Amino acid sequence: MPNDRLAAARDAALAALSAAEAADDLQEWRNQYIGRSGEVTLLLRSVGSLPAEQRAGFGQAANRLKNELEAAFDQREAEIKADSGPIGAIDVSLPGRKPAQGRLHPITQTIREITAAFGAMGFQTFEGPEVELETYNFDAMNIPADHPAREMFDTFWLDRVDDEGNNSILLRTHTSPMQARIMESHEPPIRVVVPGRCYRYEATDASHEWHFNQVEVMAVDEGITFADLKGTLYEFARRVFGPERKVRFRCDFFPFVEPGVDMGVDCFNCDGDPACRICRGSGWLEILGAGMVHPEVLRRAGYDPERYTGFAAGMGVERVAMLKHGIDDIRHFYANDMRFLSQF
Ligand code: PHE
Repeated sequence: MPNDRLAAARDAALAALSAAEAADDLQEWRNQYIGRSGEVTLLLRSVGSLPAEQRAGFGQAANRLKNELEAAFDQREAEIKADSGPIGAIDVSLPGRKPAQGRLHPITQTIREITAAFGAMGFQTFEGPEVELETYNFDAMNIPADHPAREMFDTFWLDRVDDEGNNSILLRTHTSPMQARIMESHEPPIRVVVPGRCYRYEATDASHEWHFNQVEVMAVDEGITFADLKGTLYEFARRVFGPERKVRFRCDFFPFVEPGVDMGVDCFNCDGDPACRICRGSGWLEILGAGMVHPEVLRRAGYDPERYTGFAAGMGVERVAMLKHGIDDIRHFYANDMRFLSQF
């Protein structure tokens, strides 16, 4: 009976289809059952050789079967695609994608370089509060009440006073208040480096940000002299700016040191070339302020200035980083543009 042959072909085809696991199996199955010379296709074509009265019924049944198998094929194909999912979609012959690697911010790198240079000379790293009492930021540093630094236009003042109601609170304008805090809580000898954020109420331009970082350096003991200051800072300059560096000291004024100086290093980029964009042709780069700790600062911190002396220095981290890398605008550091940051 021709209809039995259709039923047998249907059973075999459906069983084989559910056993198909991959695209190759499907292709083979299609050839075997519903392709141009597949079993069901041939059965359909055999209609003509049947007795006339069987032709119509058999032809319709064979057509139905062919449609059914085509639908079953589509469904199985979709199932196999879904199963193999993303794994099946991976082309293992493609080259891999390199994961983006994070790194430290250039200012963090510079802070670490600076503290490591002093660390190698026995200086310990300390950190302190960014929100500071007026007495530490100014009074303890021998900055008198009428000093212009206390005005609105240099200092961010907080809208409250301390718990006793008599000490104003501000965002520290420099890391120098840590000199007083460390001396108050430690016995000499002291050798410290203090990196930290500072804030000044200033308009922003290529060399000023209202927020920046400093590193404070301080050594206090019996018998510390200006020669110690020079030797230590010279060694620091060579470690950070290169072993060939020369340094120069010029007189400068800070209320908390006496005598006070600023220190320059000879430009590592040029030999006094007037077109040098780093030193602007001067041949020298000013990198920090320094001096011998003022006796008044020692006295206020509870140290006997007749017995102890010390030196202190403070530098702007962004300036050091700009000089080292030839960067001409401080604002690049905080714009968070990956094209800039990923160079370091
Ligand atoms: N605190 C000073 C400033 O912010 C820098 C400095 C520190 C100078 C220590 C001398 C000694 O400009």
